[in-house]
Amino acid sequence: MATKLSSAGGAPVKRSDISGFYKKSPDERWQTIREFGELEPAEVDTIRNTGALRFEQVDRMIENVVGTMPLPLGIAVNFQVNGKDYLIPMAIEEPSVVAAASNAARIAREHGGFTTSSTGPIMLGQIQLVGIPDPNGARITILSHRDEILSIANEKDPMLVKVGGGARDIEVRVLDSKRGPMVITHLVVDCRDAMGANAVNTMAEAVAPHLEKWTGGRVYLRIISNLAVRRLARSRAVFGKESLKTDTLPGEEVVEGILEAYAFAEADPFRCATHNKGVMNGIDAVVVATGNDWRAIEAGAHSYAAWKSNGYRSLTAWEKDASGNLVGTIELPMAVGLVGGATAVHPTAKANVKLLGVKSAQELGEVIASVGLAQNFAALRALATEGIQRGHMSLHARNIAATVGAVGDEVDRVVEVLVKERKVRMDRAKEVLTDLRAKKH
Ligand code: MEV
Repeated sequence: MATKLSSAGGAPVKRSDISGFYKKSPDERWQTIREFGELEPAEVDTIRNTGALRFEQVDRMIENVVGTMPLPLGIAVNFQVNGKDYLIPMAIEEPSVVAAASNAARIAREHGGFTTSSTGPIMLGQIQLVGIPDPNGARITILSHRDEILSIANEKDPMLVKVGGGARDIEVRVLDSKRGPMVITHLVVDCRDAMGANAVNTMAEAVAPHLEKWTGGRVYLRIISNLAVRRLARSRAVFGKESLKTDTLPGEEVVEGILEAYAFAEADPFRCATHNKGVMNGIDAVVVATGNDWRAIEAGAHSYAAWKSNGYRSLTAWEKDASGNLVGTIELPMAVGLVGGATAVHPTAKANVKLLGVKSAQELGEVIASVGLAQNFAALRALATEGIQRGHMSLHARNIAATVGAVGDEVDRVVEVLVKERKVRMDRAKEVLTDLRAKKH
């Protein structure tokens, strides 16, 4: 039997300590999860459906594979960045995000769309040295070996060097820690169109023994930093006040409301977390759609939000220009790549990158930053006016209607009632559907 089920005086006890799960054939893995989770055959079929990918492909990507976890892929329209039009693929399960981004981009477009810039694609690799009695002396020793360190690092990635990237410089810091001073060497690496984790980690590991030899210290960690302060993407857009008005509020008041919302986020980390979460709704969706590492982007964004000033702050800034229009800006780390990783092998990610038409990782990063700015604008505008629930409500109501079993035109009719009554709840949806069907007969 595939699953480890042992019996402790009656009911079988499920055990997850299955050694060599990865060695099992796909059929055995499905059998194991079916027994363990008491899954129906149809449920296992759902899990094992690999969509646009072949099972062999996903089986090579990670370990212990049993299937894939599909997400909706939507296209945000209206984006114009540096005068170029883009259709933006967004992979996300949350209703309203794609519509909100498209709507914000439409308003930004009236004033020329998004204007962007970036630093170079520079990442930092960290090498931690401990047990050094003279950390300041060790620092100077390491710095005196700069050129040698750079060539040791660059020998590890001739391809990166060939395309114009590679280790460029080093920085050495003496860090006070609760276990005493540490000497932290930063390898400054130009990653070109790669996200860079593999290149940087390999370089850091190659350099480490030399640092031990020169300083007499002991190396522990050798790893990239996701606080990518040298790989920033920036975007700016103007949102015309006339386009911000609602049925009940003039544009000027909406601008004021958005500025109040921004001030709230800047003053309060409880609000700021949610404000930045709204930014990341847009950013992560494109990062996922292009097969990039969204955990790295999340870690970079939030650590940057705390590092750039005193305390955790907004990733965006909102102001009013001389005409009273709203000006939004964003600046954040954007460690995305086009070569290596899932971006290069995942067929949907590859197609999405082609659809985006980006020619470099830097261009991709700037487009993504623009989506983050658009998303934040859309959220603040909704929050400062009618509130977020109204926009969410009809999509949410559609989900609820489908969940309670509405099909065909029943979905629209259930949604209509739930939204009108502002009761987007499962119990009410069931009642409405039952009434509807009763009236039909
Ligand atoms: C919801 O996913 C995102 C928002 O909460 C963002 C915000 O509050 O700014 C609406």
